[in-house]
Amino acid sequence: MQVVNQDPYTHFLEPVPLDDMLSYAERFYGNEAEEIVEKVVKLLDIEDIVNRSVITLSGGQLKRITIAKALIPNPTILIFDEPLMWLDDVNGVEMFKAILKTLNDMGKTIIIMEHRFLHLLNFVNSMYKLMQGTLVKVDKSDVTKLVRQSFRRVVEGIQALKTSQSNSYREVLRLDNVWFKYGKEQWVLRDLNLKVYQGDTVVIYGPNGAGKSTLLRIIAGVLKPTKGSVKRFSKVMYIPQIPYLFLTEESIKKEIKELCNNRKVREDCFSRCSELLNRFGYDDLDRLPLHLSWGQVTRLATLLSINTINGDGLILLDEPFTGSTYLEAIALAETLRMFTEVAKIIVLSSRDYISLFPKARVYTLSNGVLSPLAYRDAHMFDKAAYRLIPP
Ligand SMILES: Nc1ncnc2c1ncn2[C@@H]1O[C@H](COP(=O)(O)OP(=O)(O)OP(=O)(O)O)[C@@H](O)[C@H]1O
Ligand SMILES: [Mg+2]
Repeated sequence: MQVVNQDPYTHFLEPVPLDDMLSYAERFYGNEAEEIVEKVVKLLDIEDIVNRSVITLSGGQLKRITIAKALIPNPTILIFDEPLMWLDDVNGVEMFKAILKTLNDMGKTIIIMEHRFLHLLNFVNSMYKLMQGTLVKVDKSDVTKLVRQSFRRVVEGIQALKTSQSNSYREVLRLDNVWFKYGKEQWVLRDLNLKVYQGDTVVIYGPNGAGKSTLLRIIAGVLKPTKGSVKRFSKVMYIPQIPYLFLTEESIKKEIKELCNNRKVREDCFSRCSELLNRFGYDDLDRLPLHLSWGQVTRLATLLSINTINGDGLILLDEPFTGSTYLEAIALAETLRMFTEVAKIIVLSSRDYISLFPKARVYTLSNGVLSPLAYRDAHMFDKAAYRLIPP
């Protein structure tokens, strides 16, 4: 049996995944290890990344490698915890589906915990809902009904929004001719230009390894552009793709207090944050943030950032819907949209969530180039998702 953990960073003992996989394979296959590793590397299409150091890989790239490693011992049972987390639509999800099919044909038993389960409905024999410690068998048609209901809520939310967007022309961020590469590697970003105004929502959609997280690090000031200029005209808050990095205190309560004090926002900051968190199910504020699940931490960091930044601020959200159910994603997006004065840049590797921001300016980031996406191409969530639901 093999368990593929949700967090890809916990999977490797050696800095370079290929070395790690080879020594792992040697335990099972001795001299034939190399051949076996070559096979799984090919299957997952990771030839060009498996030789690099773990810390230089993007989230989705690393996620792919963890799946490859799990296949090495040829297990009879495979348990995947959120395998689609961070995988992009085109290569990532499709690749995982192809692997599932291969494993299925080989007669393997597969257990999957997944929030983006719509993509997998056609592959599974049975579905269960795990809620408050109880596992309940659910019918696929009930799931379909639930998802349809949630889409209806998206549409209603969008209609309510039409009157509530700000139209400020105050610039909060400006990127001029930004180029970036890590050391002597290839260019990751090529000649990016972007202006963000107060109250703007900018969605940047791109495949794994496209440079989305790199771009946010540059905007946040964690990395400097190799060429070009970045001008920030307001406070910026950055929630990294690994959201645990955002939280530093030993309890949620302290986290809120620190943020409220540092940001010098409104007097009722603490009570507003607690109330908001309460609505999202955080009822024990004495809990250690590190003990929360991935989705809980991501939502916590996102909610705290939006509620403790001043109206003219900018927040940078790297994959904010990771670990959220469809309903939780909808609720989180609704809350983000309520803060109309705060500018937001949201990066996503899946188009599942783009339509949660119908007023957003949507860009694709691909081969280092940022290009605007036409409204009709960007907002295909409902249609694409509906297509996934069996009739
Ligand atoms: N510290 C680093 N050193 C060298 N290369 C890096 C480093 N960090 C990232 N890269 C490479 O830069 C490219 C862009 O990575 P980035 O993490 O920005 O992608 P991404 O679009 O966020 O991908 P994902 O959707 O998988 O999160 C990738 O090819 C990645 O392997
Ligand atoms: Mg990323």
